[in-house]
Amino acid sequence: MALDELKIGGMGASRRRVEDNRFIRGKGKYIDDVVLPAMLHMEILRSPVAHARIKSIDTSAAWEVPGVRLVLTGETMAARNLAWMPTLSYDTQAVIATDKVRFQGQEVAAVVADDPYIAKDACSKIVVEYEQLPAIVNPDQAKDSSAPLIRDDKVNQDSNKIFDWEIGDKEATERAFADADVVSSLELHYPRSHPSPLEPCGSIADFDRATGKLTVYMTTQAPHIIRAAVAMVAELPEHQIRIISPDLGGGFGNKVPVYPGYVISILASILTERPVKWIEDKSGNLISTGFGRDVYLKGEMALRKDGKILGMRMHTTSDHGAFFADAQPTKFKIGLMHSTFACYDVPAAYLTSDGYYTNKAPGGVAYRCSFRVTEAMFFQERMIHAAANDLGMDQAEFRRVNLVKDDAFPYRTAFGFLTDSGQYAKCLDLGLEAIGYSSFKAEQEEARKRGKLLGIGISTMTEPLGAGNSREYDIIGIKMFDSAELRVHMTGKAILRTGAKTQGQGHETTWAQIVAHELGIPADDIVVEEGDTDTAPFGMGTYASRSTPVAGAAVAMVSRKIRAKARKIAAHLLEVSEEDIEWELGRFYVRGNEERGVTIQDCALAAYSNVPDGMEPGLENNAYYDPPNLTWPFAAYICKVEVDPETGVWDVLKFVAVDDCGVRINPMVVEGQIMGGLTEAYAMANMQYITFDEEGNCIGANYIDYLLPTAWETPGFELHEVVTPCPHHPIGAKGIGECATVGGPAAFVNAVMSAIEHTGVRNVDMPLMPNRVYDAVRNGQDVSGMPPVRVE
Ligand code: CDP
Repeated sequence: MALDELKIGGMGASRRRVEDNRFIRGKGKYIDDVVLPAMLHMEILRSPVAHARIKSIDTSAAWEVPGVRLVLTGETMAARNLAWMPTLSYDTQAVIATDKVRFQGQEVAAVVADDPYIAKDACSKIVVEYEQLPAIVNPDQAKDSSAPLIRDDKVNQDSNKIFDWEIGDKEATERAFADADVVSSLELHYPRSHPSPLEPCGSIADFDRATGKLTVYMTTQAPHIIRAAVAMVAELPEHQIRIISPDLGGGFGNKVPVYPGYVISILASILTERPVKWIEDKSGNLISTGFGRDVYLKGEMALRKDGKILGMRMHTTSDHGAFFADAQPTKFKIGLMHSTFACYDVPAAYLTSDGYYTNKAPGGVAYRCSFRVTEAMFFQERMIHAAANDLGMDQAEFRRVNLVKDDAFPYRTAFGFLTDSGQYAKCLDLGLEAIGYSSFKAEQEEARKRGKLLGIGISTMTEPLGAGNSREYDIIGIKMFDSAELRVHMTGKAILRTGAKTQGQGHETTWAQIVAHELGIPADDIVVEEGDTDTAPFGMGTYASRSTPVAGAAVAMVSRKIRAKARKIAAHLLEVSEEDIEWELGRFYVRGNEERGVTIQDCALAAYSNVPDGMEPGLENNAYYDPPNLTWPFAAYICKVEVDPETGVWDVLKFVAVDDCGVRINPMVVEGQIMGGLTEAYAMANMQYITFDEEGNCIGANYIDYLLPTAWETPGFELHEVVTPCPHHPIGAKGIGECATVGGPAAFVNAVMSAIEHTGVRNVDMPLMPNRVYDAVRNGQDVSGMPPVRVE
């Protein structure tokens, strides 16, 4: 009879994460656990200065250190046309500096030796003579006509500007502002932040001259894209390149770009004909690998007296560091920033953007976010908060008036996105009820008598997760879709491989649940593999919470192909025509005679031993899934804080999260994703601070200055659920991985603002460190995190 889906670990089961079996036993296989015979070790020498001409490099003393096998400089790379490599945004990035260094921490040389300590010692013997140049550390300086040209390597680059970009309807937006009763404005900076995965980046390149095969173990979230990039950069044939991404100790977008260390280790292996391992140290990771954010945002909203939003316009100025290396769809210069306000009914909108080079490490990675969506939603919710105040309206009521209504879907946003489903007001109301919104004013009064300031902050947002479709989304010309391959063995056990790459999200657990749901094969009978380009089908990897929307859909689709073939086999076994076959979970039976049936396992056995005439044996298939649209999860995050005006310290009294990510494959995994995301959101709002002094020195290049929250600091989170299935996803799921990181920060900041804005403060830039909050309350003035940016 039909199986109990929860018992076989199908959809909706809070199945324990199978990968944790090895992780909690210390048996995970991370890059540094991989040891190959005769392996050498590589260390990178990084620039101590942010902007300087390289006058000379003397490597002779390094060569003399016993155990050193190779010293590489920009010259070594240039001789093989490898001094520069393409970035994911059609720019170029120095692999090892030849002419100038352009940020502190840039690669200036590398040493390959018998062990990593020898390599590091030898690095310290390399003498580099620098002629220091003025450092540019923010877009305001970059714009100045007297600013030095950072990218003087580029023909036709005569300023530090990278791009101008615009989207939306300027005239319609101007008309909306002409009709407005009230215009509300806000300006803020979303500071640099670093994804700082526990495990830094690394690679082991192993070139075999006899076969011509290059195998690279690499900390990458997108192995197939890397394979294509290596083929292009190193001019090696793609079929002779194998990228293996082993267990990853977190990625969060930091492991999407192609880093110089990967390329250098490949050349080092080709030159030494031995495997070469490069493992970045934590400071190297913090100082040189992909950062997130660093955007100045300024906007205005046109409002009617009754609270209706008529239009909004916005300008962003982004600081990309020395190389434009954003990992984002080609069409969109500032990622999906234009998804801002997607959950509100905003009739007219216009966005302009410009981006600049500065003497900082390349930024723009989508740190647990879909290509700038975090900045977009943070600005949206800070702007909504300010606008409600300007109108004298209640925060919840203002949102309720403007949120897209349930019956308005599919809804086309002013910037052209199509959102397809949601119950926005329901999520908000659930959250308000859970936080005790109705009694808040009384609590606030009572707290003030105790000398404490109470605040409540709301953040509601929908975000676009799951790029492609391939018509609109590509990265360096590679179209965005994804894939799954399913092989059911003779005994009914199965192996599933996808083009995604888990970094801790639990794909090994949840993908098996989708197969169990579609085929009735118990999840424990399915092994999931990802990350090896020689075995996994081509895919775009995991970032931007695209795995469930795209690869997860491919898993459902390939399972259905298997079921279709199994149905034919069942008809053959039951000696009836296919039309007379019915399906229930795990079993086919004859219509009208439920007793006569065969299990999916019976069909698997027959696929290898008793197929009907003319049918190919075997039970395996693959599916490439090109989604018709993005998925649009919704979240309402509501935070209550208490601020101590004497110290500026703020404590979270309660945090309520209501998430609607459509159908949940594994509720426990989803909750884990939300809690992790909220923890990162709290860190950004509260404590994470990376800045640069006027010489371009990175302040925040270690974990004493750049803080990671522990369980001690992190508040508790109360989670609630609403389910609005995605109408176009085969199992109704929407992405969830990054929702809380994207929507969370504004809830914390709005809460602190709500506590202190009676003093006249309108904005304090993140991180809301106690000194900033204290200054704001004491002076009744805004606190800006960074030097102001001139907006033309
Ligand atoms: O792309 P990434 O894996 O980072 O994000 P995701 O697709 O949102 O999925 C994160 C984890 O949550 C995966 O293990 C998913 O299978 C799981 N998930 C789920 O159980 N139900 C959903 N509706 C969405 C995700």
